[in-house]
Amino acid sequence: MALSAQQVEQYQQDGYVCGGRFHDTEQPMKGPLLTQKVHEALRAAASAGVQTVECSLDLERSTTSVEVDAEGWTWQGRRYPFLESCKDRTIYYWAEDAFQPAARFTTSLTKLVPTAWGPPTFEIDGIKMHPTEHVSPYADAERKVDLIQPRGKVILDTCGGLGYTAAACLKGGAKQVLSYEKNEDVIWLRGLNPWSPESGGALTLAHADIVEQILTMPDASVDAVLHDPPRFGIAGELYSQAFYDQLARVLKRRGRLFHYTGTPNKLTSGRDVPNEVAKRLRRAGFTAELNGDGVLATRTQ
Ligand SMILES: C[S@@+](CC[C@H](N)C(=O)[O-])C[C@H]1O[C@@H](n2cnc3c(N)ncnc32)[C@H](O)[C@@H]1O
Repeated sequence: MALSAQQVEQYQQDGYVCGGRFHDTEQPMKGPLLTQKVHEALRAAASAGVQTVECSLDLERSTTSVEVDAEGWTWQGRRYPFLESCKDRTIYYWAEDAFQPAARFTTSLTKLVPTAWGPPTFEIDGIKMHPTEHVSPYADAERKVDLIQPRGKVILDTCGGLGYTAAACLKGGAKQVLSYEKNEDVIWLRGLNPWSPESGGALTLAHADIVEQILTMPDASVDAVLHDPPRFGIAGELYSQAFYDQLARVLKRRGRLFHYTGTPNKLTSGRDVPNEVAKRLRRAGFTAELNGDGVLATRTQ
């Protein structure tokens, strides 16, 4: 259902996103998503004279049947052209009459990037936002979320991104997930990504800066926190003592926090980010231990 102009204005003023789609008219239509792998399969079938191809047009969430010929292909009664150029690190979506890269530039270049696992990752100014080399970003999110034992809890998901940590919280039985995402282009990507959860029900997604919003949250109002910020070098405010003090304030006593930091010394030149994070969290009133590629902390005071 399209939002009225008034509703859109209200949602914008409130900073809230409805179903990941507050710019209703600007949201891309749901349609086929193409990767180089799928495009090559369609082309190869056309060259070989094969008429029907089973493939995925939703980043491997499902498979479907596509009719192919020398000029293009047909899916669900609609014709689509082959691309002149199809890059391997790009995902293309159907924008009414042509395929376009799933990328946007408002304040930074934000793009969906395919992975070998199906669920895509995304990049902001060339910086990849999930580990994808050895694990699917979806499975990685589930591992992080397991550490905070989501069942029945109200969870603060500080950095929403594509919503994989939020999806893992919901899958793990969270009572409520409060997600924040400050980059509107990331929210736009969520609308395209079939692996991103819709907001509504137990998931609330706010288009807002968590550094500002956390100041408005009541004391001891969440049971657990999942903090998955961009790397320290580009989002230092999300690693600051002042922010950790706020995390401690909004988290209930004995509540758990998992803070993704990346592997020690790997992403940053010489800084021991995980241990610096653990030290600051202890100062904020947590017990904190390094755990995998992050810090697992429990609020004590
Ligand atoms: C590593 S990604 C998070 C990935 C996410 N957990 C997921 O499941 O896809 C970090 C995200 O934090 C967002 N971000 C950065 N600073 C923020 C802030 N101050 N408030 C809210 N979101 C922020 C970035 O735009 C980016 O989408």
